[in-house]
Amino acid sequence: MKMPFSKGQKLTGEIIPPPDKSITHRALMVGAISRKGVRIKNPLISGDTLSTVDCLRKLGKSLTMNPKEIIIKPGQLKEPRDILYCGNSGTTARLLSGILSGQKFFSVIDGDDSLKRRPMKRVVEPLRRMGAIIFGRENDSLLPISIKGNELHGHEFELTVPSAQVKSAVILAALLAEGKTTIKEKIKSRDHLERMLEWFGVNLEVQGNIITVDGSSQIEGGEITVPGDISSAAFLIGAAVLVPGSHIVVREVGYNPTRTGFIRVLQRMGAKISVLKMKEQAKEEVADLEIKSSSLKATEVTKEEIPSLIDEIPLIALLATQAEGVTRITGASELRHKESDRIKAMCENLKKMGAKIEELRDGIIIEGPTLLRGNQVSSFGDHRIAMTFAVASLITRGETWIEGFDSVQISYPEFIRDLSTLCHD
Ligand code: S3P
Repeated sequence: MKMPFSKGQKLTGEIIPPPDKSITHRALMVGAISRKGVRIKNPLISGDTLSTVDCLRKLGKSLTMNPKEIIIKPGQLKEPRDILYCGNSGTTARLLSGILSGQKFFSVIDGDDSLKRRPMKRVVEPLRRMGAIIFGRENDSLLPISIKGNELHGHEFELTVPSAQVKSAVILAALLAEGKTTIKEKIKSRDHLERMLEWFGVNLEVQGNIITVDGSSQIEGGEITVPGDISSAAFLIGAAVLVPGSHIVVREVGYNPTRTGFIRVLQRMGAKISVLKMKEQAKEEVADLEIKSSSLKATEVTKEEIPSLIDEIPLIALLATQAEGVTRITGASELRHKESDRIKAMCENLKKMGAKIEELRDGIIIEGPTLLRGNQVSSFGDHRIAMTFAVASLITRGETWIEGFDSVQISYPEFIRDLSTLCHD
């Protein structure tokens, strides 16, 4: 698809970004195992969250859905007749594995070509230690996987992969297990599930990077409102920083510190981003942000910061092409296991546009500033790569074409509409 934006258009005005994907997935999953059910206000309705909805329906859950809310009714999960197809959604496959490990029935989880390539051993392994009976392709490391529900028991974990998906799968299994489970993370990943469980009345113990879950805890359920997704807003924020003369306000965006690494890195690079207002909503910080175009300087992004900005690294790489100096992003080998190999995708596409970029095993080195040229690039079937290059098209000389742009449906179906609303000649 040819990008409808051109160099010279600037971003002005106000916008509310789409609802948070991670929180919507978790509210659906938690709702499915809650006693009274859950009403999710302002849910994200997109390719990925619809994969979760579809799986829950196959598991016998009764759900009503409209653009403003999803209601998950109370009731037991039942053995699905069909394969639980998670589409492109890693969060659905991983979190569901945790829940299904502790059910009294058999189920099979599968996904699309991209998800079939993504590692599952990282959840299979810890869940097995809790007593789960799981098998999968390639020595139990890839989808499809089959799960024969079993009695689970608590365990003490030190997670080796810094992944909120793994942590959340283990927490969900721990809620169905006998006894206590302790989970220690080396670097704290997004903690939406922990906060949500507290909101719904579960007595979870969180001390720094250590979480203790008591298997006898009940999830009551209730109502939850989802804030805006900082990972989706990031594309609008990044665009406003990059395009000279821009000045926007992003309202009602989730500002949980385990998700705001992107903002901290941008501020370090010299971006003019300020918090206008901050509130608490369902145990999550929610902010209004003001962003002005800014000249940028290079920075170093290291391992400790990666979980807090994991989905924004492609965008940081693009921003670095316009920053003065050499930006180094390291300790980010997890990027090779996302919807695409994002290190390879960024290096290939940015090189085509004329950037000075070097591919590392676990990251990227970018030298800036360089003038980018429009070209034909690929999304690699990955929503975040597609949106990163739509942002690039605002600063390139010449046209930008993105193959597989439809992938934006996964997290931000209205992306082109929203960016167009902000863009003015
Ligand atoms: C997510 C966690 C991250 C992130 C993904 C969503 C989540 O993955 O990349 O888009 O909702 O838990 P990892 O935790 O596996 O790094």
